[in-house]
Amino acid sequence: MCGICGVVGRRHATPIVFEGLRRLEYRGYDSAGIATLVDGRVERRRAAGKLDNLAALLKKSPLPGTTGIGHTRWATHGAPTACNAHPHGTERVAIVHNGIIENFETLRRELEAAGQVFETETDSETIALLVDYHLQQGLEPKEAALRALRRLEGAYAVAMIFAGHEGLMIGACHSAPLAVGFGDDEMFLGSDSLALAPLTRRIAYMEDGDCVVITPKSAEFMNFDGAPVERTIQLTALAAGSIGKDGYRHYMEKELHEHPLVIGQTLQRMVDPASRRVILPELPFDLAEVPRAVITACGSAFFAGMIGRYWLEEIARLPVDIDVASEMRYRNPPLTAGSLGLLISQSGETADTLAALRSLREKAIHIASVLNVEHSTMARESDVVLGTVAGPEISVASTKAFTAQLTVLACLTIATARARGKLDTLAEEHLVSALLDLPSRAAEVFNQTDAIRAMAQVVVEARDVLYLGRGSMFPVAMEGALKLKEISYIHAEAYAAGEMKHGPISLIDRTVPIVATVPSNALFEKTLSNLQEAKARGGRLLVFTDTKGAERVSAIAEQMVVLPHVHDFVAPILQTIPVQMLAYEVAVLKGTDVDQPRNLAKSVTVE
Ligand code: F6R
Repeated sequence: MCGICGVVGRRHATPIVFEGLRRLEYRGYDSAGIATLVDGRVERRRAAGKLDNLAALLKKSPLPGTTGIGHTRWATHGAPTACNAHPHGTERVAIVHNGIIENFETLRRELEAAGQVFETETDSETIALLVDYHLQQGLEPKEAALRALRRLEGAYAVAMIFAGHEGLMIGACHSAPLAVGFGDDEMFLGSDSLALAPLTRRIAYMEDGDCVVITPKSAEFMNFDGAPVERTIQLTALAAGSIGKDGYRHYMEKELHEHPLVIGQTLQRMVDPASRRVILPELPFDLAEVPRAVITACGSAFFAGMIGRYWLEEIARLPVDIDVASEMRYRNPPLTAGSLGLLISQSGETADTLAALRSLREKAIHIASVLNVEHSTMARESDVVLGTVAGPEISVASTKAFTAQLTVLACLTIATARARGKLDTLAEEHLVSALLDLPSRAAEVFNQTDAIRAMAQVVVEARDVLYLGRGSMFPVAMEGALKLKEISYIHAEAYAAGEMKHGPISLIDRTVPIVATVPSNALFEKTLSNLQEAKARGGRLLVFTDTKGAERVSAIAEQMVVLPHVHDFVAPILQTIPVQMLAYEVAVLKGTDVDQPRNLAKSVTVE
C-alpha cells in the first residue's frame, strides 16, 4: 500500500527518489519522506499529506547526497503525521517500510528495556531501532540488518541506508513486493516496477525471504541467514511514457477511455480470431475434470468474479462457490480437492486474496489467478496465471482492469464449457464473435458522454443512491455503487432488482435517485416491472439500456443512456463502462480528489 523508492549511485538522489515517489503516490498518499546521506550523516525530511507538502519542505530545506531512500505512506499504525512518516531512524540508520510488523509490540518492549527510545507510534520504527541496536553492538550494516530481519514477523518490504556508508543500501522483503533496478553505475530499489520505469528497464524481482545488499555497481542477493541466492535480471516492458495522463484530466478518465484497448489486448492473448476459438495458456489440470469452482477476490475484482459465476454456471454448467477473500480465508468451507480456485486481483498483492489463495492451496485446490500485475506475489504462488492485459492502472478506483478481468473470465467460461462438452464449435464461434465485436462497441459508449454527464447532474445532488440490476447486471450495479461511494463520497447501495420490494423500497422518494442497468435480455421485462414499482413511489429513474430496450425504457425513465445492443453474454462488460463513467462525472462535479480518494490505497497489502 505504501511506496518505496531508493537509489545509490553518482547522481543527486533526492530528485530521483522524489520522482519515483510521484509514480508510487497512487499506492498511499497520507504522508511522505526521504532520507539521504549527507557527508556520511543520515538526514531526513518528512511531511504529512500529499507529496506536494514534501516538495515544499525540500525546497526550503534541500537534501543533497547520492544515497537515498523515500516512502509514501498509507497509515496503519499511528496517525498520518510528519513524525509517523517514513523514513524512520536514528543517527546510524534510516529505513522505509511497506507492510505490517506483527510482533512489533514484543520487539518494542525488548528494545525499550535495552534503552532504545521510540519517537513514533508506528510498527515500522521497530525495524529501525532493532537494526540500530545491532549497529550499536558493533555489527556491520549487513550483519545488523540480517540479525534484525530474522526477528521480524509479518509482511514487509524494507530499504535501509547507514551513516558512514555512502553507496550502500540494503533491501529485504517477505510477503510484500520489492524490485531491484540495475542502472549504469547506479542501482535502484522500488516497491514496484512503475517506480523504476523511467530509470531502468533491467529489473530483478525479489522473492519472499530475500535480502539484497546494493552498491552502485552490484547487487548481492541472499536469504536472511546470509546464504547467497540467484535472482535473474529481466527486461521490463514498461516505458516511462505509459504512465502519463496523456492529456486527460485524471488517470481515471484516461483509464476509462482505455476500456476498448484493454479488452482487445486481452482477447488477443486468449482468442484465435481465424478459428474463433479460445486458446488459454497451458493449464496444469484438466478443465473437464474439475468438479466445482471457488471464486474469491476483494472489491471490484469480487464483482467481476460474481459475473464470472453467472457465466460459469449458466454456460459451462459448473457449480461455483464465491465469497469475498476476507471471509473466504477464515470461513473454512468444505471444498472438494481438485476443484478450480479462481483468484482475481488487479495488483496480485491484496493481502486477503493472497491469504485466501494460500488457504485454498492447503485444501488441494488448483489455483488459477486472473491478474494484471505480472510479477506479483500471487502470480508466483499460482498454478497458472490468466493475465489481463490492462497495463498499469494508476487511478485508485479500478476501471479498465475490471473489464479486462471480465474478458478473461468470459474466455475461461468458453474453454470450460467446451471441455465439459457443454458448447459445440458453432456455439463457441458465436460467443467468441460477440467478444471480438466488443472493443468497437465499447468505443461507441463514449458517444454517450453527454447523456452520462446529464445523469451526473442529478446524482451529484443526492445523499443516497440506489443501484439496481438483475442477473449478471446485479454485479454491474454493485460495481457502479462502489465506484460512486469510493470517489464521490455519496452513499450508494446496490440491490438485485427483485429484492427491492423486500426492504429498500421504503427508501424511495424524489431525493433517492435509482440507477438501473437494463439491457434488453431475458430479464428485461422483470427489471422493468421493478422500475415501474419504484416510479409509482416517486422514484427518479436513471437507466442504462441498449438500442433494443430504449423505446420501452424511455416511457418510464427520467433519463437514459442508450448503448449499442450486444450479445447477452458480453452485455455486462459493456454496461460496466457507463456506470463507471457516471461515478467519474459525479466526482468531477463534486470536485473530489478523483484519482486518490480519501482513506483509500491502490493495493491493499494489509488485512
Ligand atoms: C474499487 C477498487 C477496489 C479493488 C480491491 C481489490 O475501485 O479498486 O475495490 O478492486 O481493493 O484490489 P485488487 O484487484 O488489486 O486485488
